Amino acid sequence: MTSQQQPSHASVSQQSSRQTIIAGNWKMFGTAESTRAFAEEMVRDPRLAHASGNGVGVVICPPTPLLHVLRPFCGTFFELGGQDCHQNVNGAFTGDVSAGMLVDAGCRYVIVGHSERRRYHHESDDVVAQKTRAALAAGLTPIVCVGETLEERQAEQTADVVLRQLDAVLQAVSPDQQFVLAYEPVWAIGTGLAASVEQAGEVHQILRKFYRQRVSNDITILYGGSVNATNAKELLAHSDIDGALVGGASLESRSFLAIVEATGV
Ligand code: 13P
Repeated sequence: MTSQQQPSHASVSQQSSRQTIIAGNWKMFGTAESTRAFAEEMVRDPRLAHASGNGVGVVICPPTPLLHVLRPFCGTFFELGGQDCHQNVNGAFTGDVSAGMLVDAGCRYVIVGHSERRRYHHESDDVVAQKTRAALAAGLTPIVCVGETLEERQAEQTADVVLRQLDAVLQAVSPDQQFVLAYEPVWAIGTGLAASVEQAGEVHQILRKFYRQRVSNDITILYGGSVNATNAKELLAHSDIDGALVGGASLESRSFLAIVEATGV
């Protein structure tokens, strides 16, 4: 992989749609009670009001049945997101939710192509691309996840894998349809072993360069994989890392707010 000199974060954000975003992916954790307590702690904390008042997008993606618990709290200081959506508008797809249903439930974002969906639900690049298109059509901002496995990294296939995953999405959407990209190396998810700033920054640069060449615009790219209150500041200081997609550390308001604070905004 080659690394390329990029313009500074500040100069890029002025001419493009780059935004600092801290998103929490709760995966299959939480109860109505823990969710209510989380929301009450969040909205009471001045760090959240400060960050969101200064342009940081804060997004919580709980399991679908908990969206309604967060809904009364969202909109001012944080937004809601789904963890997945079906590629069809409706139909006989037991257990699935459509992008339109997530909009009805108060969502503005949806995660698509998370490696856990790719792995456990066998979602191909093509399905992820269709889901991205469905989310955009419903008015959601998709957070599209890409990332390589440990074997792929060791075989020096990282760039090939993440660009193949991004390319599939770009072929399915039009250039003016904006989405958020999340680089989540599979080996860093839930392992406590985050990518180093150099490793993450290098892949972000590769993705950004490819996107700019294809779309003549810029894109918000989040890093995900064992982000926590300790390593967030260093990762977020990299000029190509626009924010974080946080798993485990987003389940408690204390650790999640420390990551929001680490944006330095
Ligand atoms: P962890 O932060 O728990 O490693 O999870 C990352 C992730 O998968 C976010 O989507």
